[in-house]
Amino acid sequence: MAETPTLHDAFIDELRDAYDAEKQLTKALPKLAKAATAPKLRQAFESHLAETQNQIARLEEAFGLLDEKVRGKHCDGIEGIIEEGKSVMEEDFEGETMDACLIAAGQRAEHYEMAAYGTLVAWARAMGHDDVAGLLQQTLDEEKAADEKLSALAEGGINAEAASGAHGEDDAEADDAAKPMPAPKKAAAAGRGARK
Ligand SMILES: [Fe+2]
Repeated sequence: MAETPTLHDAFIDELRDAYDAEKQLTKALPKLAKAATAPKLRQAFESHLAETQNQIARLEEAFGLLDEKVRGKHCDGIEGIIEEGKSVMEEDFEGETMDACLIAAGQRAEHYEMAAYGTLVAWARAMGHDDVAGLLQQTLDEEKAADEKLSALAEGGINAEAASGAHGEDDAEADDAAKPMPAPKKAAAAGRGARK
């Protein structure tokens, strides 16, 4: 009978999950960058792609330190988040509205990764794998910084610009109400009628 798996086994499993998630993200991030309108947002996705490639290398180093083969295990969670991002990109949103939606998609991915690496760092420390914990902590810090950068872009103008065109129909109604044309026409007609 197989031995009962331990926390170390779960840890290796989660590392493989993270490795696969990062690989999936290296394919998704260029699409997010391409769909972005604001140059700063495009740069944020591109620079996170470079970081992600480095995070993959860190995970490979971690597998080596743990005497484990470098191997991924399909990450369903990030696949779902990436699929949602793809659906957003297929919508007809334009400019800042699309950018605001891309930021939302990107931040979902960052938070998923922050949760995964947070656990990995804690487990590595608890089991005394301090060298691996150090590597994973660097990645966790990068994910947090990427998330904060996206928040700063959203709150630094993109959300406000997207919101300014958010109520298209209401704005049009407000414009109609402000137009003075129909009232004078009626008044003029009534005036002509009165003269007869
Ligand atoms: Fe990552």
